[in-house]
Amino acid sequence: MSHSTTLTLPSAPRVLNGCEKQGYEALTEEASYWIDGATISGAIPDGLEGTLFRNGPGRNRIGTQQYGHWFDGDGMISAVTFKNGRVHFKNRYVRTPKYVRETEAQRILYRGVGTQIPGGILKNAFRSPGNAANTSVVLHAGKLLALWEGGKPWELDPATLETVGVLDFDGALGPMQPFSAHGKYDPRSGCYYNFGLFGIPKPKLHCYRIDKEGTLVEKKSQYVGDYSMCHDFAITDKYAVFVLCPAFMDSPFQFLFGMKSLLESIRYDPGQTTRVVVLSLDTFEIVRQFELDAFFGFHLGNAHGSGDRISVDVLCADTMDVMGGLADVFKPRENFDFQEAGAKLYRFDLNLATGELDKQPVANAVAGEFPMWNWRYTGSEHRYTYLATIFENGTPWDFNALQKIDHASGRVIAHDFGPGRFTSEACFVAAPNAADEDDGYLVSIVYNADRKKSEVVIVDARELQDEIAVIPLHHHLPFGFHGNFYHQTFE
Ligand SMILES: [Fe+2]
Repeated sequence: MSHSTTLTLPSAPRVLNGCEKQGYEALTEEASYWIDGATISGAIPDGLEGTLFRNGPGRNRIGTQQYGHWFDGDGMISAVTFKNGRVHFKNRYVRTPKYVRETEAQRILYRGVGTQIPGGILKNAFRSPGNAANTSVVLHAGKLLALWEGGKPWELDPATLETVGVLDFDGALGPMQPFSAHGKYDPRSGCYYNFGLFGIPKPKLHCYRIDKEGTLVEKKSQYVGDYSMCHDFAITDKYAVFVLCPAFMDSPFQFLFGMKSLLESIRYDPGQTTRVVVLSLDTFEIVRQFELDAFFGFHLGNAHGSGDRISVDVLCADTMDVMGGLADVFKPRENFDFQEAGAKLYRFDLNLATGELDKQPVANAVAGEFPMWNWRYTGSEHRYTYLATIFENGTPWDFNALQKIDHASGRVIAHDFGPGRFTSEACFVAAPNAADEDDGYLVSIVYNADRKKSEVVIVDARELQDEIAVIPLHHHLPFGFHGNFYHQTFE
């Protein structure tokens, strides 16, 4: 019988503000080691084998300078390998020109998307942001790719994490065709879809299909409006769904002439509409567009379709104010209330025949980010969505909890990592021989402010209560963005 549960949010007094900030400090060392099994609390689940790859800005400071904006630190890949009951950790920076040259100089030489090169306008004028390769990492057709929204993917060796070089798919990706951090693997076809939004003078939406052998076999570029940002998309078995929020390049000349960073040049216009654009997954032709009152969001959840109907989960915020808190990751957020300002999950039901769109908040869910689901269900009807969230547990200044939404029953449950323990995106890992959609684990990297080190935490995905294993790393790991778990090992 279906039932619904309202999540009760904790309300502990706020203490120790700033304890999370060390979790943004740089980790400059590159390491490779097996973790001593005696230091692990709990037990690694029987039969759990595979590699968790994660990407994120590994250094938000260099020398005496800081990038400040969370989007600008250099991409550092971590690989956590589970093999024969043991755990191995490895990390390595992507050797982009930005990383290599700035490491040598020990100062900022490249513009970021939210950080200017210190030294004034002349240092920044007519320079494009450097590719930080810091947002996600994907393994497809044997190639490990570090992804960034505004540029091309960087290929890495999945065993050593050494940088191979920029991947343009044998020239198929043109000079103004970026490759986003939020590609989607289609479990039906084995194809990997991705996109980029960029173009001069008019922005274009570029869509790509890479087949299971790793060849870019389909590409289409088209103008869909003057939108300057699109971070994520969703797929069904037949369609691609893009949500275009009214964030526009407001002052291109100030960006060009070095007066403002790229993100400072983008303005959110609540007077305009947010558009949902549905494309054919076969041809990338536009099938239908929908307009609705303005909202802002980075991420989409899963989508599925049947006939002329599409259902897609979308994280929606009333404003783009969340960007303000990302502009200086070292600045404590005194009055930040994520449950007030953060995005909430909605389900959009689209009717391709009539053009009607029904937008409903997902009942009982609280504000969250980094939507996750069992990726075997990508493009198919899914029952569960997982999100990182922030609780008033004493240290509510960064993600410190996970929530699980049961779309069928309306039940929402949570795991609170506790005061001083901060997470980021949790990856869903299916249990060996899993029968049910939620038969598996959520694997997170958690920064423990007491220890000033990070730990890999495995939580039971069914009830979220138990920390099945807490695997201490030898150091902290700067907060990252996105990753993927693969049932393959390379150690
Ligand atoms: Fe993202």
